[in-house]
Amino acid sequence: MKLSVALDLEHESDNINLVKQLKNLPVWIKIGLRSYIRDGRKIIDEVKNIDPDLKIFLDLKLYDIPNTMADASESIADLGIDMFNIHASAGEKAMREVMKRLNSRKNRPIVLSVTALTSFDENDFYKIYNKNVLDKSLDFAEMSYKNGIDGVVSSVFESKKIKELTSSNFITLTPGIRPFGENKNDQERVGTIETAKNNLSDFIVVGRPIYQSKDPRSVVEKILEEIKIKK
Ligand code: C5P
Repeated sequence: MKLSVALDLEHESDNINLVKQLKNLPVWIKIGLRSYIRDGRKIIDEVKNIDPDLKIFLDLKLYDIPNTMADASESIADLGIDMFNIHASAGEKAMREVMKRLNSRKNRPIVLSVTALTSFDENDFYKIYNKNVLDKSLDFAEMSYKNGIDGVVSSVFESKKIKELTSSNFITLTPGIRPFGENKNDQERVGTIETAKNNLSDFIVVGRPIYQSKDPRSVVEKILEEIKIKK
């Protein structure tokens, strides 16, 4: 299991300070909408300058018509990042077009699709998708798997079932992790590292429990220790 740290801070300098504190640790850095819209590709170069071994997950959750998504995916691949995501609800054609374009390149990033945002509770989710979170997430995961996507973003509670339905190699990345039971903030379906391990999550995403703490590096070290411990 790998740890992806969310760079969701208010100012670019705050994000950079956080990355500096994480130098030489085996973590992935998640650059999301706020940081990318504000700072653009500069933030990617800055992270790489601090530590070229840090892997970058660009969390922009693309959702558009297939051709626009495939064009954007190629531009994203040109940024030299390691992983990005699209919304599964963009559909099979979009998935196939994105993967066709990326697979024709020498190197391509890992591509994940978002099933259900972890901020949804069952009621709000049902209003949009007319199905419960688990069943719809499994539908989205199967569709993504069949159309060549590398894995999904889901809550930790769907991860194991998604792997059973698809393949153990199909990646699950799970946000909404409160490593040691911290405040869940606006997230609904949250789990601890223990939950993530039990559900075979490949990547956990942690934001606020790290960057809102007084000593982010020590929280990250503690999480990495916990990830290593076998049950
Ligand atoms: O601060 P927190 O740990 O809740 O941050 C979670 C991060 O994961 C945020 O950047 C959020 O945008 C992202 N995310 C999520 N749920 C998804 C996909 C991404 O919370 N389904």
